[in-house]
Amino acid sequence: MDKMQETIELLESYNQNHIVKLLNKIDDVKKQELIEQISKIDFQQIMELYENTKKEIEIKENKIEGIPYLDKEKLTKQELEEFNSLGEKVIKNGEYAVVTMAGGQGTRLGHTGPKGTFKLDVYGKGKYLFEILIDNLKEASQKYGTTIPWYIMTSKENNKQTVEFLEKHNFFGYDKEKVTIFMQSEIPLVDQEGKLLIGKDLKIKEASDGNGGTYSSLRESGALADMKEKGIKWIFIGGVDNVLLKMADVTLLGIAISQGVQIASKSVVKANPHEKVGVFCKMNNHPKVIEYIELPEKMAEEVDNNGELKYGESHIMCNLYTIEAIEKISKEPLKYHSAFKKNSYVNEDGKEIIPTQPNSYKFESFIFDAFEFFDDIAILRGKREDDFAPVKNKEGVDSPRTAKELYEKYWERRG
Ligand code: UD1
Repeated sequence: MDKMQETIELLESYNQNHIVKLLNKIDDVKKQELIEQISKIDFQQIMELYENTKKEIEIKENKIEGIPYLDKEKLTKQELEEFNSLGEKVIKNGEYAVVTMAGGQGTRLGHTGPKGTFKLDVYGKGKYLFEILIDNLKEASQKYGTTIPWYIMTSKENNKQTVEFLEKHNFFGYDKEKVTIFMQSEIPLVDQEGKLLIGKDLKIKEASDGNGGTYSSLRESGALADMKEKGIKWIFIGGVDNVLLKMADVTLLGIAISQGVQIASKSVVKANPHEKVGVFCKMNNHPKVIEYIELPEKMAEEVDNNGELKYGESHIMCNLYTIEAIEKISKEPLKYHSAFKKNSYVNEDGKEIIPTQPNSYKFESFIFDAFEFFDDIAILRGKREDDFAPVKNKEGVDSPRTAKELYEKYWERRG
C-alpha cells in the first residue's frame, strides 16, 4: 500500500476526513510535507486527550494533606550557614546548571514576541526580562567564581526571535559559550468535535506542549547529555517572568542536600485564597502541586489550626533537581491538561477563520506533575518581597507595574 493510501486510511479511522479532503486538494510538495507531519503524530494519544476533555477533574478520592516546609526566616544563623556552605560547594565545583523555560509568549501581557524580550520599565532606562535573569546569573557567577552553564528552552514559535534578540544584545555580557538554547516540542490543537485544526500554511496546527515538556526536551535536544559530560549534579529550572527569581539559591540547594532529596522547591505564602498560583500539597503521600485552575474552592479557602491557609505554599516556579531526577522524569510521560482556547484555523474552503469564542483544546503538560514521581521534596519558604514578582498580566495583579515596584524596592533594600 502506498504512503498516501496508508495516510488516508489512518485519517479516516480517526475521523479526520477534513484532512483527507485537504490532502486531495494541495500540490505534491505540500502533500508530501503534510504526510510527513501526519506520520509523526500520535493520533491515538490525541483522541484519548480529546475524550478526557469531556470528563470532570477528580481530586476528591485521594488523601490530600498540607506540605511540610522550612521557613527561611526561622532558620538559626548556624543552620543557615550550614545549608549555604553545602550549596556553595556544589556551585563552586561547577556542578550546577540553570534552565530557563522561555517557550511562552507574552500574550497575556499584550507583548508580541518571546516573553523574555519584554522590557520592564525600571530605573528609567528599563530592563528586559532576559537581562534581569542574566544579572542574577552574573551576580552568582561572580560570587562563586564560576560561570554557571545556562540552558534556555524556547519554542518553535519563538526560537528564532529569541536567538536573534540575545545575539543582538551580546547575551547582556554573559559568556555565550556557556549558553545552550534548545527547543520544546509541539502537539496538535483539536476542535470541539475532535478534529485537528489546519493552519494557514496548510499543515496541521500545533502548539507548544506546555512547560512539562522541558524534561523530555532536555533529553531529546542533547542538553542533558551535555550536562552529564560537564559533570553537572544539580539542575535548577525556573520561569522567565519572575523578576526576583534567584536562580542560584545556595540555601535551597543546601537544604536539598542535607535532606537527601532529589527535588526541592522554593515557595512563598499565597497572597489570598484565590491568587493565581499553583499550591503544594501531599497527595497519597507524594509531593504535588495543584494548579489554580484545578483547585476546588473549598480547598483554596481551608485554614489550619494556626489560621493559615492549609494549601498556602505557592509554587513560584523555582525548582531544583538532581541530574538523576531529571534523567528519570525525562523518560516518563507526564499527563496532559487541556485548556479551551481561541485558535484561528483554515476551514474546508481554504478560508481562515478567526474565532471570537474559544473553539479548540490546547494540551499542555505541567512541569510540577513530575513531583509525584518522588517520595519527598524539600520546600523552602521564602519571602514574597525577596522572591516573587511575576510579570503576567497587562494591568492589575502581577503586572509590569507591580513587578517594577517590587523589583525597585528589593534593590533599594539591598543597597
Ligand atoms: C505558572 C505555574 C504556576 C505558578 C506560576 C508562578 C505551570 C503550569 N503553572 O503559572 O503553578 O504558580 O507560574 O508564576 O507551570 N512555558 C514554556 N513553554 C510552554 C508553556 C510555558 O516554556 O509551553 C514557560 C513560560 O515561558 C514561563 C513558564 O513556563 O516561563 C510559566 O508559564 P505560564 O504558562 O505563564 O504559567 P502560569 O499560568 O503563569
